[in-house]
Amino acid sequence: MKKPIFGCGWKMYLSDNEAIAHAEALKSKVSREDQVELYVLPSFTAIRDVKRILDDTDINVGAQNMCWEDKGAYTGEVSARSLKELGIKYVEIGHSERREFFGETDETCNKKLKEALKYDMAPVFCIGEKADEKEKGLTKEVMQRQIYVAVQDIAFKDAKKIIYAYEPVWAIGKDDAADPEYVEDVQKYIRKLLAELYPSSDQGTEFKVVYGGSVSLKNVSELVQKPNIDGVFVGRSSLDASSYKKILEIIKNDFR
Ligand code: PGA
Repeated sequence: MKKPIFGCGWKMYLSDNEAIAHAEALKSKVSREDQVELYVLPSFTAIRDVKRILDDTDINVGAQNMCWEDKGAYTGEVSARSLKELGIKYVEIGHSERREFFGETDETCNKKLKEALKYDMAPVFCIGEKADEKEKGLTKEVMQRQIYVAVQDIAFKDAKKIIYAYEPVWAIGKDDAADPEYVEDVQKYIRKLLAELYPSSDQGTEFKVVYGGSVSLKNVSELVQKPNIDGVFVGRSSLDASSYKKILEIIKNDFR
């Protein structure tokens, strides 16, 4: 049976001191947790401290972005090499906010995925359609383009290490998540696309596909009961340690 995944992106919500305080609060609520794969993604500057605090828990720490180059004249960027030295395994790639505000494209995602995998990291790769694309009925086309370009020249053994985070852009930062039936349908399609790209796959069952976008205490249960939702990627609702702990308990109890 698959282990459910509970990932959290802290975006730029917390300062370093706030991130440290939040990590301490999480540590007091969660220590050993072998039923769920857990990770949190603080800002770069907080990674070392948050990791030190969470080191004796089962909450892994990762980064929200990285450069596709190993080293060189890339002012303001952070390499996978540096992230690896920090001892972290997870790195988020292609979040819609990075695509919208910082020029991330399917092509740069492909380069970053290859670089992260070269360092044996587990990329959390975000995909999802915008509101107008959904209205025009283009969701599946968008999924196909984003996935086909991003996994180009990535071998099956590496493609399996990626966590595919389906995050419809119109459902991020809202009051409620996308309808679980809708998510299930799209995620089933994502699995099918991956199975077509990797014929040695067992119908895409090995791939990790999670949902993100306004996940909260009120909707997480229904989401994680769906057969093609392997877990959740949470923003705002993970910033309060009590809510984090409650979401974790729901995932443990209700995951299919
Ligand atoms: P949200 O963020 O849970 O605050 O909607 C989700 C995300 O962007 O990953």
